[in-house]
Amino acid sequence: MLKSTIDKATDFEKRFENINTVMFEDSQVASKAVAKEIADLIKVKQSQKQPCILGLATGSSPKGLYAELVRLHKEKGLSFKNVVTFNLDEYYPMEPDAVNSYVRFMKKMLFDHIDILPENCYIPDGTLPKDKIASYCSAYEKKIEALGGIDLQILGIGGNGHIGFNESGSLQNSKTRLVALDHITRVAASKDFAGLSNTPRTAITLGVKKIMEAKRVILLAWGESKAAIIKTSTEGQVTNQVPASFLQEHNNVTFVLDKEAASKLTRINAPWLVEKVNWTDRLIRKAVLGLAMHLKKPILMLTDADYIENGMSDLLAEFGQAYDINIKIFNKLQHTITGWPGGKPNADDSHRPERAEPGKKRVLIFSPHPDDDIISMGGTFRRLHEQGHEVHVAYQTSGNIAVADEEALRFANFVIDFNAKFDIKSEATEKIYKKVVKSLTDKKPSEIDIPEARYIKGLIRKGEARATSHFVGLTDDRIHFMEMPFYETGTIDKHPLGEEDIQMTVDIIESIKPHQIYAAGDLADPHGTHKVCLDAVFKAVRRLKEKPFMDDCWVWLYRGAWQEWGIDEIEMAVPMSPDQVLEKRHGIFKHQSQKDGVVFQGSDAREFWQRAEDRNKETAGLYDQLGLAHYAAMEAFVRWHF
Ligand code: F6R
Repeated sequence: MLKSTIDKATDFEKRFENINTVMFEDSQVASKAVAKEIADLIKVKQSQKQPCILGLATGSSPKGLYAELVRLHKEKGLSFKNVVTFNLDEYYPMEPDAVNSYVRFMKKMLFDHIDILPENCYIPDGTLPKDKIASYCSAYEKKIEALGGIDLQILGIGGNGHIGFNESGSLQNSKTRLVALDHITRVAASKDFAGLSNTPRTAITLGVKKIMEAKRVILLAWGESKAAIIKTSTEGQVTNQVPASFLQEHNNVTFVLDKEAASKLTRINAPWLVEKVNWTDRLIRKAVLGLAMHLKKPILMLTDADYIENGMSDLLAEFGQAYDINIKIFNKLQHTITGWPGGKPNADDSHRPERAEPGKKRVLIFSPHPDDDIISMGGTFRRLHEQGHEVHVAYQTSGNIAVADEEALRFANFVIDFNAKFDIKSEATEKIYKKVVKSLTDKKPSEIDIPEARYIKGLIRKGEARATSHFVGLTDDRIHFMEMPFYETGTIDKHPLGEEDIQMTVDIIESIKPHQIYAAGDLADPHGTHKVCLDAVFKAVRRLKEKPFMDDCWVWLYRGAWQEWGIDEIEMAVPMSPDQVLEKRHGIFKHQSQKDGVVFQGSDAREFWQRAEDRNKETAGLYDQLGLAHYAAMEAFVRWHF
């Protein structure tokens, strides 16, 4: 058996997991390492004149891997002539050329760009009549067996721990079969199918047994949204509720993770429980706050016994009594709270999160979608303006795909009525209107909007964003619409970040020369718009780093709409009164197209203002629970040092 280059690449003597897990800086580096292992295996098999049998997955996780394999083929001459592939699954029913079929996915991502023989690519058939599926599935397995079994199986992991479409409840010896998809899986897939009602209910999947029989298994997981299930499946019990946990019993499996997906593993999240650690300030803060929350005690009530009984005795040995450590951490947390997010002029700022000077700052808020500014930092946004800073907001993308067709029609209609009322004769308007009406009425689920429909949708969101900014008090010259090109595909799948995107970010920073930049530091979805927008800001800031005005520029990250920073990470917490919470709610209300069952609702049925309020209340609640002042709500920020 080929020795894994991935495992050799990193050093893990200390581990807490029951599965070999390897963490990489990011998913791109990780995907390259996995591609290298696959390429090495293909070459070994070539030299042995043997076929190389690969088990392949779809979904977002293996996209980078496939891109790298294509590169190796094109630039390094890696041949796939001896490769036979078996895909894990396919939706059922599903035509092979449908937009969301896995056949189409595999062709687009891999098969169309390499020299693999089409007859060597097996993907479960989504077009069979139901009564033929069982025999088809057993023939699929026989084919794998006849070729000597899978040499290397690539897997992704579902939020519920599914591998392939073996959902919670699948047995370890389950066979290839037709399965019903879990609600969680369907919700995750619904973004590709324009809503849950269009999302398939069933799929054909390779069974757990064949996955377990693969000679080598590599599971890929990226992003914070996978962190919890990675911890459960690697550290928890082997259970059919979490099918990925079966892999604990496989003798040659590696979970390849990026930093975010690995972030909840005990050795990363609470390394002091696993090994002797070097107690940095950051680690002490994390450990002590974690202890207080675990015991549901205010920080100042923690005792020596609490530390000792929870694996933190060496902290006492090094730093003295609980009393001293508690006070230190309490003060640190206290100093994160400020009602002056732009700094308090003429005040001693040695224990404040922001500088006092200059008293009037230029502030640039980047908002990935047209509503992230108000949802995630609406209270702070308003305070910054009210405290006299020159606040600019830059809406990075148009957000057009999140507007429902009916909304677009309603607004297009408005223009027609407006023209008629004021006797404005415009043939062009009529023509566009008719074209849009026809295209939206004839549109099949998953079909892309015509550009005119997308523009109308973008305009709707533009108007809403402007309304919010006016509500906060900004004038038009401080409101900037970037409409970054990477976003403008009309589909969920966006282009990668391009030079033009970065340059326009550089330009806006350079023209404003801000003392503060706020950006959405959303790491939960590695392929999502927020992450791309953040990368654009990071890249732009790094490019501008040497400019003198950047010496005075601090970058603060708020979280996206879905998550909040960990309490131990927060460096600035801006409190809100009950009245300010209400004002923020009204600011969010300006985004009417995003109310009442939006296009991309996800699994959370709450409206955006509810999510925002719950989240801000929760942060305030944590400060209260830890023994600090009790506010109605709090917005939280982390500083990014470039
Ligand atoms: C795909 C498959 C699924 C996915 C899993 C993760 O063929 O069988 O198990 O691997 O749902 O999907 P992503 O990678 O999109 O998060």
